[in-house]
Amino acid sequence: MTRRIDIVEVGPRDGLQNDPADLTTEQKLEFIARLEEAGVRRMESGSFVSPKAVPKMADSAAVFAGVDRSRPTRHIALALNEKGVRRAIDAKADEINFVLVAGEGFGKRNQGMSPQESADMLAQCAPLVLEAGIPLSATISVAFGDPYDGEVDIKVVGNLAAQAQRAGAGELALGDTIGVADPWDVRKRIDRVRMEAPDVFLRMHFHDTRGAALANVATAVECGVDVIDASCGGIGGCPFAPAATGNVATEDVVYMLERGGFETGLDLSKLIETSRWLEKVLGHPIASSLSKAGGFPVNS
Ligand code: COA
Ligand code: ZN
Repeated sequence: MTRRIDIVEVGPRDGLQNDPADLTTEQKLEFIARLEEAGVRRMESGSFVSPKAVPKMADSAAVFAGVDRSRPTRHIALALNEKGVRRAIDAKADEINFVLVAGEGFGKRNQGMSPQESADMLAQCAPLVLEAGIPLSATISVAFGDPYDGEVDIKVVGNLAAQAQRAGAGELALGDTIGVADPWDVRKRIDRVRMEAPDVFLRMHFHDTRGAALANVATAVECGVDVIDASCGGIGGCPFAPAATGNVATEDVVYMLERGGFETGLDLSKLIETSRWLEKVLGHPIASSLSKAGGFPVNS
């Protein structure tokens, strides 16, 4: 049987949160609808954070109100504190993804929290999510390196993973927020997290800042990880991570995996079409390779 790899599309959240372009809510909804048309079934559609900190996500409640709920896509809301979790529940998020942070320097600037404070915040917020019957996941941001403090101790990542499992997160992502991971470290950190949090499903979140994102995805898949975050066009980055560039591009991941015999359920030509549409809407070139080269052997 063909092995299935599920892609969580993060373009509407991670992708747009740091893009210089200001999309209207209607344009965001069109982006989401195009991604659904391409077969996306899980998508980070917005974040419920301070609009002062991330103005591009200020209309997330309107985005969640506007998505077509008759479609099978599960819309994930990002939250970092209790206020965000309550807003995400009110917006009828299908899932809530909570952000833990593995570095002190980034944690302070991104969310005003130390790693332990972010874990305490998750423990405080998890019951709200679970009592509302909403699946809870967590992403450990800067799990491979912190833009301010440098190396991130693998023990910190393992410890946060254990706390996420205890809090009730069913899925946990290791986030390479600033694109410093290499395939060998990916394997080490996956092994460590599996030891410390054996009951959570793993997801991986890579940025392509230093060109290793696809290699990291391939390694994660070889390690048995079945869920990968990616953003259409490879857009994105974090406003609090200097020089952060986009997530690994959805169409590049789909191409690589399907070429390798895996199934993603996504339509490559529709993704490429969406990327090219996005490039026009954003008004600047986007990073993905497939949007430039097209697929092979099928001409997209
Ligand atoms: N949604 C909307 N507003 C929020 C909020 C939320 N989830 N959490 C806090 N606020 C508001 C408060 O109401 C308060 O508003 P006021 O100044 O008008 O009174 C203000 O933000 C400060 O609140 P406070 O609880 O002191 O938060 P903080 O200043 O310590 O900031 C975060 C904490 C998490 C809200 C903020 O750092 C943030 O939004 N960061 C976003 C990081 C991000 O999204 N990064 C990219 C993805 S990882
Ligand atoms: Zn990211």
